[in-house]
Amino acid sequence: MRSRPRHCWVRSAGFLLALGASACGDTSPSTLHPEGPDAHRIAGLWWFMFWVSALVVAVVTALILIGVLPGRRRSTTRDKGTPRWAGRLVILGGVVVPVAVLAVLWAFTLSDMSALSQPRRLVAMKVQVVGHQWWWEVRYPRQGIVTANDIHIPVSRPVEVELTTDDVIHSFWVPQLTGKTDLISGRTNRMWIQADRPGVYRGQCAEYCGLQHANMIFYVVADPPDTFRQWLSREGQPAATPTGSAATRGREVFLSSACVGCHTIGGTEAQGKVGPDLTHVGDRISIGAGTLSNTPSNLAIWISDSQSVKPGNLMPPIPLRPDELEAVIAFLEGLK
Ligand code: CUA
Repeated sequence: MRSRPRHCWVRSAGFLLALGASACGDTSPSTLHPEGPDAHRIAGLWWFMFWVSALVVAVVTALILIGVLPGRRRSTTRDKGTPRWAGRLVILGGVVVPVAVLAVLWAFTLSDMSALSQPRRLVAMKVQVVGHQWWWEVRYPRQGIVTANDIHIPVSRPVEVELTTDDVIHSFWVPQLTGKTDLISGRTNRMWIQADRPGVYRGQCAEYCGLQHANMIFYVVADPPDTFRQWLSREGQPAATPTGSAATRGREVFLSSACVGCHTIGGTEAQGKVGPDLTHVGDRISIGAGTLSNTPSNLAIWISDSQSVKPGNLMPPIPLRPDELEAVIAFLEGLK
C-alpha cells in the first residue's frame, strides 16, 4: 500500500516529462525553440510568465500548508479569535498582489505586442500569402513568382508578409519565427518574419477553418543568400521542358485532362486559378499543404483520389489509366 502513492508520483512525473519532451524535440515547431528575433521576444515573455506563475504557486502552496498545520490552527483561531493581521493579509494577498502581478504581466505583454507590430527597416522583400481552404498561396509580387505552401526567405533578413484570405478566416503561425496573425476577409494584415539560421520551419493554420484545418500546413525555408538567389531565379522561370518520353507524354496527358481547369503551369496552356500553381511543383516539400511528403508514390495517391487522404478538399479524383498516371507523375516531378 505504501508504494502506491510513490508509484503514482513517478508516473505523473513521467507523463509530464513526456509531455514536455514532445514540445522540446528538435523537429518540434515549438515556441520555446525560437529561431528568430520576434520568436525570442515571445519566448522571453513566456518564460517570464512561467516563473512569475511558479512563484505565485509556491507562495500560495506554502501559505496553505502553514494554514492547515494543526498546531498553528488551534493557537490562532480557537483560543484568541481571528487576529487583525489576518484580515489585512486577505486584502493584500487576495487583491493587492494579484492586481500588481497582472498589471506587470499586462504591461510586458503590451510592450511586446507593440514591438512585434512595428514595421521593420531594411526589409529584404515582400511576400503575399493568401489563405484558401486548405492551402496557402504564396506570391512574390516584385519577382512575379507564384507558388504554394513553401515560403522561401533569405536568412537573417526581415521579410514582410501580407496576409489575405480567399474564403474564411485562417491564421498564419510559424511558432519558431513569430506569433500568430489572422487572415481576415476584406482586410490585409501585415507581419514580419525573420530566421536567424538556415533551416525549414514548420507553420500551421492556427484558426479553425473547416474540415481540413489540421492539414493546412506550410513550411518557411530560410536559405543562405546564394541559395535564395538561385531559388528566386529558378522559380521566376516558366516550367521546365520535359526531358524523356514519359515526362513528354505526361505533359500531353496533363494538358488534355481536367487538371488544366484548376491549375496553372507557367509557359503552358494550363492557366487554372482554383488550385495551387504547379509551375515548380517538383521542388516543393509536400503535397496537399503538408498532408503527404512530395514523392512519386504519394503524388499517385493524390492525383488518383486526394479525397482518400484529405477529404473535403476541392480536387476531384482524376481518372487516368495507370500508364497515363505514371507519365503525369514523371512530368510533374520534373518541374523543379
Ligand atoms: Cu486555415 Cu485553419
